Amino acid sequence: MNIKIIYDKFILILKLLRNHYGIFYRKKEVNLSTINVDVIGLGVYSNGILSPSTEKINNISGNFLKNVLNEFKAKTGDSIVLYNVPNIKAKKIILIGLGETNDQTIETHIKAEESFISSCIKLQAKECISTLTENNIKNIDNLLLIKNAIIAANNSLYKYTLTLKDHKEISNIKKIIFTTQIQNENSIQRTLLEATAISSGINLAKELGNLPSNICTPTYLANEAIKLEKEFKNIKVNVLNIEEVQKLGMRSFISVSKGSDEPLKFIEIAHTYNGVQTEPEQKTIVIIGKGITFDSGGISLKPSSSMEEMKYDMCGAAATLGIMKSIAKLNLKQKIIALIPACENMPSGKANKPGDVIESMSGKTIEILNTDAEGRLILCDALTYAEKEDPYLVIDLATLTGACVVALGDYRTALFSNDEKISNLFNMASEKILDYVWKMPLDDHYKKQLKSNFADIANTGGSSAGSITAACFLSEFIGKYKWVHLDIAGTAWNKGIIKGATGRPVALVSQFLIDQENES
Ligand code: BES
Ligand code: MN
Ligand code: ZN
Repeated sequence: MNIKIIYDKFILILKLLRNHYGIFYRKKEVNLSTINVDVIGLGVYSNGILSPSTEKINNISGNFLKNVLNEFKAKTGDSIVLYNVPNIKAKKIILIGLGETNDQTIETHIKAEESFISSCIKLQAKECISTLTENNIKNIDNLLLIKNAIIAANNSLYKYTLTLKDHKEISNIKKIIFTTQIQNENSIQRTLLEATAISSGINLAKELGNLPSNICTPTYLANEAIKLEKEFKNIKVNVLNIEEVQKLGMRSFISVSKGSDEPLKFIEIAHTYNGVQTEPEQKTIVIIGKGITFDSGGISLKPSSSMEEMKYDMCGAAATLGIMKSIAKLNLKQKIIALIPACENMPSGKANKPGDVIESMSGKTIEILNTDAEGRLILCDALTYAEKEDPYLVIDLATLTGACVVALGDYRTALFSNDEKISNLFNMASEKILDYVWKMPLDDHYKKQLKSNFADIANTGGSSAGSITAACFLSEFIGKYKWVHLDIAGTAWNKGIIKGATGRPVALVSQFLIDQENES
C-alpha cells in the first residue's frame, strides 16, 4: 500500500469532558511519530497485515512493531502496550487486534475501539489518538465508523456519580483524536455533530434511568423537560397536571397513578426547526415514552427480589428526553412531539384492583386483570391523545413486558409496527448505529387473548406471547397514523456488575430521524 495517500490531511479531535462535548476540528498534515500524546492506538489484522498508520510507525521505529508481532494473535480486541518505541514521541503505543481482514464489520471495529479506550483508561492516559478509524471496511461508509467510535468512546467514559459521595473519576482522558483519510470537511463536521448529539442524548437517558425513584419522580422528569426548553430555542414544553389530564379524559392513565402519593405529570415536548424552512413542512412525528418512575406492580404486587430494578421503568421516558435533546442539538427540520405520561404504580386503598373496569380516553372500556400491566394503561391514553397532532408516525418506547426479556434478552429491542416500510427503515438505522431491533408479529390471532366478558378489552392476555399481546393491546388504541412500538424491557438496562441504564434506544431512534431527514 502506498503510505503517502494514507497520510491524511484531516484529523478529528473530540474533547471529552464530563457532559461537555466540544468538537475541535483542524485541517493539518499529520506525522504521528512527532505528536506528543500519551497513547497512540494502532490496528493490526490477524494475518499480520498492518493498518496504514501502523505500517508507517513500524517503518519509522525500525521494525520495532513487527518484532513483537510473533507474540500477538491480533484477534478482535486483543491488545498489547509498547513502551519506549524508537523514534516515536508518544509515550505508549497500543497495538489493537482488528481480527481477520475478511471478517471486518462495524461491530468488530467497535469492539477494537472499545478495547483501545479501556486500555487508555487503565493506563490513565490524558490524550490519546485512535488510528483505528482509518480501517476501511467493504461496503461501509467510513464516516459510520467514526460516528460509532465516538458513541462507543462516550459510552465507555460514562459513569453515574450523582448520589455517590465518594467516587473516583472513571478516567483521566481529556481528549481523543480520531484519524481519518476522508477529505470532505462538511461530511466530517456533520458526522461529529451527529455523534456528539446522540452521545449527549444517551448520557441524559442513562443518568435519568439510573436515578432512584425517590429522586426521579414524575415532577423531576417534567423539570428535566423544562431544562431542555431553557437550553434550546427549538424546544417548547408543556406540563399537564392531574386537573388538566382529567379534563382531557385520560382516565386509564389516572387510574394507574391513584395508588401513589406522587403527583402524575403528562409532559409534552415540541421540537420545531429553528430556521427558515425551505422545503414544504413534513407531517409531525410523535414519540411516546413510558414514564413509570417506579413499578411495584400495584395490588398485583411484584415479588421483592430485584424489585429495585423497577426504578428503570421510566427508561422509555428517559430515552424520549434523550432523543429530544439529540434532535434539538441537530436542529432537525422535522416537527417532532414527545409525549410522556409519568406516574408511579403503587398499591394503596385508592389503587386499581384486579377486576376493576375503567374507561380509557378513547371511550373503550378496559378490564384490569392485573394491575402490574400498567404500562399499556398509561400508553393507551397517550396514543389516543397523539391523534390530535395529526401525526404521520407515532413511535412509542416502553419497558413494557418481562416476556420481551425472555424472548430477546438484552441484545435486540422488540419492534412491532403496522407499516412494513417504516419497520425496514428502523432495521436499517439499527444496523448502522449498533442499536439492534427484531421485528415481532402482530397477527390478529393474538388479539383473542385480550377478550373480556366485562369490558371491551382486558389488559392482559395470559401467560403466552406476553410481549405480543401487550403490543396488540396498544394497537387497539392507535389512530390513523403509522405506528412503531419498541419494547425495551430487555435492552434499557444492564444487570450484574455493569448494572445500570444503557441509554437505548436513543441512538436507534435518533439515527432513524436523521435518516428520515436525509431521505426527504
Ligand atoms: N415494567 C414491567 C415490565 C418489565 C418486567 C420490564 C421486568 C423489565 C423487566 C411491566 O409493567 C410489567 O410488570 N409487565 C407484566 C405484564 C403482565 C402482568 C401481563 C410482566 O411482564 O410481568
Ligand atoms: Mn408492571
Ligand atoms: Zn411497568
